[in-house]
Amino acid sequence: MDIAFDTARELSRLVSEAASQCADFDKTFEPEVRAAEPRFGDYQANGVLPFAKRKKTNPRALATELVEKLGALPFFADGHATLEIAGPGFINIRLSAAYQFAWLKAFRNESSYAQGAHTLLAGKTVVVDYPSPNTAKQMHIGHLRPMVIGEAVARLIDFCGAKTIRDNHLGDWGTNFGTLIMQIKREGFDLDTAGDDALAQIERLYKAGTALEKEDPAVRDLSRAELKKLQEGDPENTALWEKIVATSNIAFERIYAMLGVKPDVTLGESFYRDKVDRIYDELSACGLAEESEGALVVFHPEHPRFAEQPFIIRKQDGASNYASTDLATLFYRREEFEADEVVYLTDGRQRDHFEQLFLTARKWFEKQGYALPKLDHVWWGTILGEDGKAIKTRSGEPIYLEALLNEAIERARAIVDAKSPELEEAEKAEIARVVGLGAVRYADLSQNRTQDYVFAWDKLLTFEGNSAPYLLMAVARVHSIFRKAGLSPDETDFESAASVIETEEELALARKLMQFPEAISLAIADLRPHHLCTYLYELAGDFSTFFNANRVIVDEADVRARRLMLCARTLRTLQCGLHTLGIETLERM
Ligand code: ARG
Repeated sequence: MDIAFDTARELSRLVSEAASQCADFDKTFEPEVRAAEPRFGDYQANGVLPFAKRKKTNPRALATELVEKLGALPFFADGHATLEIAGPGFINIRLSAAYQFAWLKAFRNESSYAQGAHTLLAGKTVVVDYPSPNTAKQMHIGHLRPMVIGEAVARLIDFCGAKTIRDNHLGDWGTNFGTLIMQIKREGFDLDTAGDDALAQIERLYKAGTALEKEDPAVRDLSRAELKKLQEGDPENTALWEKIVATSNIAFERIYAMLGVKPDVTLGESFYRDKVDRIYDELSACGLAEESEGALVVFHPEHPRFAEQPFIIRKQDGASNYASTDLATLFYRREEFEADEVVYLTDGRQRDHFEQLFLTARKWFEKQGYALPKLDHVWWGTILGEDGKAIKTRSGEPIYLEALLNEAIERARAIVDAKSPELEEAEKAEIARVVGLGAVRYADLSQNRTQDYVFAWDKLLTFEGNSAPYLLMAVARVHSIFRKAGLSPDETDFESAASVIETEEELALARKLMQFPEAISLAIADLRPHHLCTYLYELAGDFSTFFNANRVIVDEADVRARRLMLCARTLRTLQCGLHTLGIETLERM
């Protein structure tokens, strides 16, 4: 028997097939098969109702016709599932225990899950634009989300079979460099001897420079002159600029390493300096861009806001900007990477920019006959303090990211010391690292990303509720079951002795395990990792219910084997899900 990875999708396909054999259905019918509440069955097809409404016919009669054809398809005729019409025209589908059992045998570890999910994006090249920080500034708590959400989204895309290119679009070109170079020269500051806190020094220099500019217009002119020299390729200023960028990257890389972020390419804004002229020419030639008060701009007359609010692609002083750079970048990604899709990750404040960018690109590519990649802006809300305001230290300073991550590890360490004093030092340190970083990541990912969320240590480090420690604990618990049984969760030999799952809790756990593909589909559909978090949390809950009600290590070899099999699947699913989110797991805690 050929077993489909995603049961909901497979059932949708079957329902569509049956509908195509019915006289009263047409192509506009959508099956809408989803996991159902257990009391109704395993899955429910909800599409008959909206279809009947549109066609102004009786849904119950339509459902009856559909179920008749559906029941004749081999999947149902062979007894893998039963059908029932409920209410005004819902179709409830209940899988046989034997089918659930067969599915569990077919999909058993991360590589078989990945193979199952591969069909979603196989053959596609997706550029994921993250973490893309701006240089010359230290990373603060606000930089957590591009890294954590970016990594989860990139891994999700990998998992679904695409070729993923992680492109770090560094903000390394802008007017701030004029000010910085001016102030570096003014203080005679030597970047080479600045040491570990060089980036903090650069930030200080910039603040001092802007303060002076405000007091004295002559200083502002100096900064402008330095910027102009840099733009014209003056060797001294170019060398200073390079050092600032390199210093920034050294500091960033420490944090990337902590969070497992590994860009495939780092092509910063400066890389596109010589690629913007072509954009001005093409957009002007095809009538999209026009001069307005000395700047080059694009209006979108059909849009309620962008008819008036222009997309400025060249500034009055002739310089390129964020918009022109992004247009050149998109073109490059299409040409050089042959991207089928580009995913941009930034906070919600850049929504207008990306809406204008996408509108402009769509028109430009169409006029020129270029293939337009699918474009997605994955944006998020703000991290709030416990007072409900944008998070800061008590004295109003930003919370630096490196310090925050170290604090997470320290706090996790205190918990490990209290809970497991008997462990060796190296293991304690490793547990603290995985739990601390996992907790920070998970707290961020488990929220619907477009909402703001409150950063609270107690909540993210709790062992109860929807948190990383809770899920990591579930993983460690299954490992300990296997240790007690004297088996490895990767062994399969014992599984041949397993009898078909039977108890209510076994069946409930199996149905939840089978919903993993749906959670992945949901998360990838609108690039929202929280769907996966919710699923993992529910899975851990169902496992716990099963484990409390059904003894695993029992004398009957067949029962023991099937329960161990459920334990192993739970373990691999939890691990696969957490790894896809970018969270490491442990064998012991
Ligand atoms: N450097 C920008 C920032 O920190 C994010 C860049 C996002 N990517 C892009 N292609 N615009 O806000």
